[in-house]
Amino acid sequence: MRLSSHYRFLSVTTALVAICLVSPAVADDVIAQASSPDSTLSVKVYVNVEGKLSYGIERKGQAVIAPSRLGFILADSPKLDGQFAMQSQQTSSHDETWEQPWGERRFVRNRYNELRVNVVQKAYDNRRMTVVFRLFEDGVGFRYEFPEQAQLKTVRIVDEQTEFTVADNATAWWNLGGEWNNLEYSYNQTPLKEVGQANTPLTVKTDKGVYISFHEAALTDFASMWLRRTEGQTLKARLTPASFGPSVERLAPFPSPWRTLVITDNAPALYNSDLILNLNEPNKLGDVSWFKPSKYVGIWWEMHLEKSTWAQGPKHGATTANTKAYIDFAARNGFRGVLVEGWNKGWDGQWYGSGKDFSFVEAYPDFDLKAASAYGLKKGVHLIGHHETGGNIALYESQMEDAFKLYAAHGVDSVKTGYVTDGGAAQFPKPGGGTHYGFTDSQEGSRHYTKVLETAAKYKIAINSHEPIKDTGLRRTYPNWVSREGARGQEYNAWGNPVNAPEHEANLVFTRMLSGPMDFTPGVLSLEGNKREILSTQAKQLALYVVLYSPIQMAADLPENYAKYPKPFQFIKDVPVDWSESSMVAGEVGDYAVIARKDRNSEDWYMGGISDDQWRSVDVPLSFLDPAKNYTAQIYRDGNKADSKGPARFDIVIESKTVTAKDVLALKMAPGGGTAIRFVPKK
Ligand code: NOJ
Ligand code: CA
Repeated sequence: MRLSSHYRFLSVTTALVAICLVSPAVADDVIAQASSPDSTLSVKVYVNVEGKLSYGIERKGQAVIAPSRLGFILADSPKLDGQFAMQSQQTSSHDETWEQPWGERRFVRNRYNELRVNVVQKAYDNRRMTVVFRLFEDGVGFRYEFPEQAQLKTVRIVDEQTEFTVADNATAWWNLGGEWNNLEYSYNQTPLKEVGQANTPLTVKTDKGVYISFHEAALTDFASMWLRRTEGQTLKARLTPASFGPSVERLAPFPSPWRTLVITDNAPALYNSDLILNLNEPNKLGDVSWFKPSKYVGIWWEMHLEKSTWAQGPKHGATTANTKAYIDFAARNGFRGVLVEGWNKGWDGQWYGSGKDFSFVEAYPDFDLKAASAYGLKKGVHLIGHHETGGNIALYESQMEDAFKLYAAHGVDSVKTGYVTDGGAAQFPKPGGGTHYGFTDSQEGSRHYTKVLETAAKYKIAINSHEPIKDTGLRRTYPNWVSREGARGQEYNAWGNPVNAPEHEANLVFTRMLSGPMDFTPGVLSLEGNKREILSTQAKQLALYVVLYSPIQMAADLPENYAKYPKPFQFIKDVPVDWSESSMVAGEVGDYAVIARKDRNSEDWYMGGISDDQWRSVDVPLSFLDPAKNYTAQIYRDGNKADSKGPARFDIVIESKTVTAKDVLALKMAPGGGTAIRFVPKK
């Protein structure tokens, strides 16, 4: 007895010494806790001896996120990190189902328990801060609220202290954040311990089989968050720097974006989560039925192949005559939109990273906006507008109102925007005149993208941003933000140096696609870039329409190439872009994914499967089909010799089968391959 209590005394002393030496890492008292409605996930909030706040997450009683820090460093006020004491806490439960105007599914259930932790810093005039946690069945979101208070009227955030320490050894799928090529880096698969500075969504799988996707939701008027690994398996929030002063400067009261963790025990459940959308505010725009989810073609791939130019000259692509030819092609094949890039002044000379000569209202002499749009509208085809800024946000903002007004006057109801410049080199307006350089994912970048949406919405115009700030689910609040780029898309297959790897899309679907729709522009059936072959089979190009969700989808290839492949082209004509239900039915991060979706406007189902650089055989139960119906499955699959390289890319088998909900389909997908299926109920 005596001996053991003596030892206990010793070890307590050791612990106290340890606290004094390395105190920030030691989490002490649990001051609040909560669990998800079904008790799968739980959160504990701690305060240590120095009053530092941290949180930890458990899944089914096992630690997933070890105690990890919370807080901020401010520019002109003591840190919001330490000296905290609990003031009060509240819990509440929510369960509602809301309807999406368009999307992967029509109805979304939003069911969570909320924990509000109100803390106070007695040493600093009783400054207050609130951390709000929302616990869902499949993840956790938390955010900070800065209340209105005399002690901290304007909050100037230099650094966010939020950390995410993954408890078990994990593998990560991630790409670089905060570098010159913005969001357009290839994905890495490495031990979590080898991550540098990453974008989000960043996905990890632990050795115990737990999957976590780290991201953020509702990023408005705030700097975007990169994740920098500090040590071991700890990722720390790194706010995009501002050009001058703190990363974030705002008048209280305001909330931070949600820091989100989707946490599941299988890869498809990561994809099937609605957590990001649920953490966004409801629709602010009201009726957006003027936005028509649809497919489009356009004057685009031909420029990337260098067959024509954006600039003026003998090879100018955006002529009235060429536009009319695309309109005819669109009308013949049932596409609603024709994108026209290079119609406006400013493309001559060096436009990227400069944009100084762009006019968003003046056309080149060989393009007649009025005539081209009227020609289209007669045939039920709408021009899709294009605003490439070259990163010159200042110039764009000065013309934005007139630019949208002009398009609206000509029946153009969706616009693709672009910001081609290096990370940190976008030009923002300086208050009082002039410009300065900055990141598009900075706080002022986030303000700009919102301003574009609000201005476009006034004219009933939908936005597809290229070189965007990352998607954080704002399409729920602004349903005219219909798609965006924000990753390596098909254009890299035109340029080469290098083309996208065969596993690129199998990485995308478990990273970038967890944030929202992507304008990837699939469907290049010629499988040829500018002198380089695309490392994909034809069947995979079709499958991407189902796998990479977007309510607008381009048929990116040249019309003459579609003329060569009428049979696979049929799938591109058939596939819808708006769904009543969607579900990933099989998949593994970076390896393969199979997604089933039901058309919002018919009883048809569709399925898309993609593989990485390996042959995959996946058995897929068709239990999603209506058990009372028989279906014809129109199957577009890789042939037995299909491969990601050479002539074998064109080895496609197109066949029909009668199937029911009781059947199990064996999908065989080649390296760089895939399968696309349309299920039509039999009469
Ligand atoms: C980059 C965009 O991603 C691409 O689609 C567009 O054609 C060029 N910029 C020119 O705006
Ligand atoms: Ca791009």
